[in-house]
Amino acid sequence: MDISALEREIVEADLSSPEAQQRFRQKFLKKGGVLDELFAKLRSLPQEQRKELGTQLNRLRALAQGRVEVAGSVENSPSTALSTDATFPRLTLSSGGRHPLSIVEERVIRLFQRLGYSLADGPEIEDDWHNFTALNFEPDHPARDMQDTFFINPSAGRLLRTHTSTVQVRVMEAMRPPIRILAPGRVYRHETISARAHVYFHQIEGLYIDTHVSAADLRATLEYFIRSFFGEKTRTRWRASYFPFTEMSAEVDIGCLICGGEGCPVCKYSGWVEVLGCGMVDPNVLTACGISPEAYRGFAFGLGVERITQLLFGIPDLRLFGQNNISFLESFRGYGYAL
Ligand code: PHE
Repeated sequence: MDISALEREIVEADLSSPEAQQRFRQKFLKKGGVLDELFAKLRSLPQEQRKELGTQLNRLRALAQGRVEVAGSVENSPSTALSTDATFPRLTLSSGGRHPLSIVEERVIRLFQRLGYSLADGPEIEDDWHNFTALNFEPDHPARDMQDTFFINPSAGRLLRTHTSTVQVRVMEAMRPPIRILAPGRVYRHETISARAHVYFHQIEGLYIDTHVSAADLRATLEYFIRSFFGEKTRTRWRASYFPFTEMSAEVDIGCLICGGEGCPVCKYSGWVEVLGCGMVDPNVLTACGISPEAYRGFAFGLGVERITQLLFGIPDLRLFGQNNISFLESFRGYGYAL
């Protein structure tokens, strides 16, 4: 039997189509094929010849298997097309990317770090004191209702924090002024999930306490942030508001970046979108945290991370953030740390 002729046949066989590969497999690799028959013959040969021929046949079988494997994978890969189609995209290595909320969070942090803010953190499972009482919520305030808050153990006052303002309390209890912190984190609310609302979302809290902090500082800080983040030409609208823990309280809207102010579902056809709540820290909150309201003043703000991410990237539906939809996530891959 001519081993080298067989070898040449294996090496040179045309495997360019799935049918040709099938024929090749039938001929060389399947039961009853050429190699199979040769292996059967092997048994009738004397010991000395058996060994040498056996080695040769094993080599041929590996060769045939290798050819089928390579042909099969090349067949499905773009590089085959590359040899005939010069416009075919080259093979790229795919890498991981960061979640759009992380990209935005980090960018906000960097803008405030330039103003001397450092980072603070607090737990997501909180107690009534840090989420409500120290923040000057009346005992019968509607936010304390089970309708709005997820209680873990209502009688023990254990709950999932409804805002990152809890971290204000924790920081003021632990530090003496001057205090200048930023606290990003996840918060929870008892809502019906829709394109505009979710049971969890993210906020970034800011707190600045010192001897001479004024409302003008608050305004200048947030205007700086909004212009740096959304662009110099961004329009802002300050509206008087109410929060139990701030006295003068305000909410800040920006001109809707999705429709340019013409009206769309994201701005509820008003042309404006609320991006943050803020105010001067209520003296009762300072007292509750052991800081003298005679000696110190401060401001606080809370930003909705999903909201500003939606505006920045034009994302219409809040639910996309939590769905692990690969093609949605991959569209942010290029941002890296460049933003
Ligand atoms: N905690 C408020 C909210 O969740 C936002 C806020 C933070 C308002 C700090 C004023 C000061 O809506």
